[in-house]
Amino acid sequence: MTVADSLDPLSALRWLRDVGADDIVLEAPIDRYQAAPPQAPAAPRPIASESPRVRRSEPAPERPAYEQGTARQIEAGLRPAGGLDRSADLQSAKALAGRANTLPELRAALERFEGCPLKHSAKNLVFADGNPEADLMFVGEAPGRDEDEQGLPFVGVSGQLLDRIAAAIGRDRRSFYIVNVLPWRPPDNREPALAEATVCLPFLMRHIAIVKPKVVMALGATAAKNLFDTTEGITRLRGRWLELNADGHVCPAMATFHPAALLRMPLNKRYVWRDMLSVQAKLEALR
Ligand code: URA
Repeated sequence: MTVADSLDPLSALRWLRDVGADDIVLEAPIDRYQAAPPQAPAAPRPIASESPRVRRSEPAPERPAYEQGTARQIEAGLRPAGGLDRSADLQSAKALAGRANTLPELRAALERFEGCPLKHSAKNLVFADGNPEADLMFVGEAPGRDEDEQGLPFVGVSGQLLDRIAAAIGRDRRSFYIVNVLPWRPPDNREPALAEATVCLPFLMRHIAIVKPKVVMALGATAAKNLFDTTEGITRLRGRWLELNADGHVCPAMATFHPAALLRMPLNKRYVWRDMLSVQAKLEALR
C-alpha cells in the first residue's frame, strides 16, 4: 500500500502533485511493457530559458508572457485571435492593473475588476498583509475560509505555520509582505483554475512591481507555476534561485513548499528550512 492509497482521492491527488508526479521527465512517454533499449534522458530544460519572466540566455521578448498568446492562455480559453486578445477580462485586468501606481490604486483597481467570477462568491477581497516596505515578499495560492472572513492572507492554520517558518529567520509580518495569486477565495478551497489565475496575474505582477521586494518567495506549486510560467513541479522547482521579471521589477526569486503541503507532509519541513536559510543569505548579500 502506498501513501496515496491511504488518502482520500483529493488528498491523494494533492500528494501526487506535491511529490512531483506531474513533472515531465522525458520529452516522450516510454512504453515499459515493450522491450526497447534504454533511452538517453532528455536534456533538462533549464527553467531560465522556459519563461519570459525568468532570465534567459537569448533576448527576452519585451512584453511578459501574460500579455501575449501563451500556451497557458490558450489552455485557459483566453486565446488571442488575429493579434487581438479575445478575452475582454484579461484586457480589462491588464488595463486596470497597468494604470495602478500605488497600493491603494491597485486595491481600487481590483475592487473595480469584474473579470473574475470568484469575486461574487467570496466574502472579501484579500489584498495583502505585512509590511510593503519589507525586502521579502511571499506569494501564496489563494485565500481559504479564514482569510475570506477576515480579508487578510494567511491567517488560518497555514498562516500560523508560515509565521513560524518566517520566525526561524527572525522575520514577522513587520518584516515581510504577503500576497496570493488569487485575491478571492475559490469555493470549497478548491485549487485555482488556470483561467482564474491567468486573469488575476496582471494584478499580481503589478503588485510585485509596486512593492519592489528584494526577494520573492513563491509558496507552493500554484504560486511557482504562475510566477515563473512553468509546468515544472514544485519538488523539482523548489530551492533554486531564479530571476523574476514582474512588470519590469527584476529580482531573485525562489519557490518552496506551501505551508499547507507541510501540514500534510511534515518531512518536507527540512527542505523549507534549507530554502529559508538560502533566502536569508541572499537578503544579507543584497544589503
Ligand atoms: N493559503 C494560501 O495560499 N493563501 C492564504 O492566504 C491562505 C492559505
